Amino acid sequence: MTNEKLTQCSICHQELEGTVFIKGPDEKVAICEDCIQTAYEILGLGPVQYNEVNESDESMLNAENFVRPSIIRDYLNDFVIGQEEAKRVLAVAIYNHLKRMAHNAHREEGQPEIEKSNVLMVGPTGSGKTYLLRKVAELIDIPMIVADASSMTAAGYVGSDPEIMLRQLLQAADGDLDRAQRGIIYIDEIDKLGRKSESASITRDVSGESVQQQILKILEGTKSQVPLDANRLHPGGNNVEMDTSNILFVVGGSFEGIEEIIKKRLGEEGRRIGFDEISEAEQKKKDFNHYILEVEAEDLRKFGMIPELLGRLPVVVPLQELDVDALTRILTEPQNALLKQYSSLLSYDGADIEFSDEAVKAIAEIAYEKKTGARSLRSVLEKVLLPHMFNLPDEEENVTFYFDEESIRSGKAPKRIVKESK
Ligand SMILES: Nc1ncnc2c1ncn2[C@@H]1O[C@H](COP(=O)(O)OP(=O)(O)OP(=O)(O)O)[C@@H](O)[C@H]1O
Ligand SMILES: [Mg+2]
Repeated sequence: MTNEKLTQCSICHQELEGTVFIKGPDEKVAICEDCIQTAYEILGLGPVQYNEVNESDESMLNAENFVRPSIIRDYLNDFVIGQEEAKRVLAVAIYNHLKRMAHNAHREEGQPEIEKSNVLMVGPTGSGKTYLLRKVAELIDIPMIVADASSMTAAGYVGSDPEIMLRQLLQAADGDLDRAQRGIIYIDEIDKLGRKSESASITRDVSGESVQQQILKILEGTKSQVPLDANRLHPGGNNVEMDTSNILFVVGGSFEGIEEIIKKRLGEEGRRIGFDEISEAEQKKKDFNHYILEVEAEDLRKFGMIPELLGRLPVVVPLQELDVDALTRILTEPQNALLKQYSSLLSYDGADIEFSDEAVKAIAEIAYEKKTGARSLRSVLEKVLLPHMFNLPDEEENVTFYFDEESIRSGKAPKRIVKESK
């Protein structure tokens, strides 16, 4: 930027660098993201939606229009609670991916071709791996599909799993080949393909390894013939050639027990994180959340991942196990928080639902015990609300329900106040 005055916001004087801002037509005034946000709120328009970054395909490849890591992180903050490190690593990975595509598309003679950095996500079930990725894909408006590695077969014939994934991606892009070739394929449960132990006495899981080999093949930039019709063995069937060199592959798994391997590598086998007297299970979680941030490819190799595959997954995104506090926040804070969702659902039957702070915490605590991360929050709420969701449509009156801790824990009916007749 040449004009000196434009390095700061004209209203609050904060530095503009690294934020989204708008400039006046004469280039003499600029307004930073925070002030735009405040203006939005004053006008009653709610939080700014980042729709403007859903650039058209053309401008996405224009170097000035990248969605910067801080914007990706801020956007994720609206939906995903905690997982700060994962948000940062993923934001940079996506940013680099966009830059790389633009660079290679406009590359001149003599400039290096930037190779792909596929991503490996490691973290417990229900901690937000798939969710983070879906939100990123939404933000940058690219198609994404999720595949399950544990259901893949080792077959190598035409129409094998990699081609099915590519076809699904093409479908997710509504048949637009260009868009599909810049999409994201998320391969979940990759840890289920590994040997369970490093120990040589344990038989190698040959089929798991050969599926890893197969995945390896499509991670490399290759051109694949993708059958368009479901009858994939049809020899003369319609095929489309898909180039996977720009597809971002993200591989994820929970790698249960990985913290022990990391601990060992760091020579901290006897170490306990924290000084409190806590149960063994709690200690394990504490250890996990501490050591997962140190995870390296080598640890995953010991978990049974083949080195060739790890070599092509240079970016490792660690996710921590969500605690009661995080689960409580997930219920209430995100833009589409679960309590807000159920509130909307019940409002169609003329009912309001309110939860005391203790009630919200009780829901989080019950869900935490189920050990499936944020996923169990929904099932706990479904159970609590089921009688009301059943009865409300027949009610003659509009009511407000007040849930306290007891009504969550013992199923006691919540306090019910009639607002008016329907
Ligand atoms: N950190 C979080 N913040 C807000 N919501 C979350 C978070 N983590 C998970 N959720 C909610 O829980 C649901 C399940 O999470 P998600 O599918 O991302 O889990 P996962 O880590 O991919 O688990 P798995 O290993 O079992 O596939 C999400 O759809 C989302 O609604
Ligand atoms: Mg998942």
